[in-house]
Amino acid sequence: TTLTYLEASGTATAIDVPDGWSLMQAAIANGIEGILGECGGSCACATCHCYVDDQLMAVLPPPSAGELDMLDNVAAERRPNSRLACQIKASPALAGGSLQLPEVQE
Ligand code: FES
Repeated sequence: TTLTYLEASGTATAIDVPDGWSLMQAAIANGIEGILGECGGSCACATCHCYVDDQLMAVLPPPSAGELDMLDNVAAERRPNSRLACQIKASPALAGGSLQLPEVQE
C-alpha cells in the first residue's frame, strides 16, 4: 500500500507500507524525519502526530478514545484531520493517500 509522507520541509516521500504495519512504523523504518514515535506505538507519546488527507479521512475509522486523549497532547496545532500515525494500520483502502507531518513533535 503506497502512501506519501509530506514533511514540513516540503520533502515528499512515497513509501510502500506493508499491510498491517502502522504508518508510524513505516516512517521510522524509512528514515522519515518528522515522526518520532517515542513510545514505540503504544499511543502514549503523541510524537507520531500527522495530518491526514481527505482520502484518508474518508476511509479511516474514527480515532479511539485513547487516541483522542493523546491528540490533546500534540506539540503542533491540532486540526480536524489530526491523527496519530501509530494508530493507523496500512491496508489497501489507504492506497494513494498522504499524510502531512507537523513542524514539531515535542
Ligand atoms: Fe507514541 Fe504514536 S508512537 S503515540
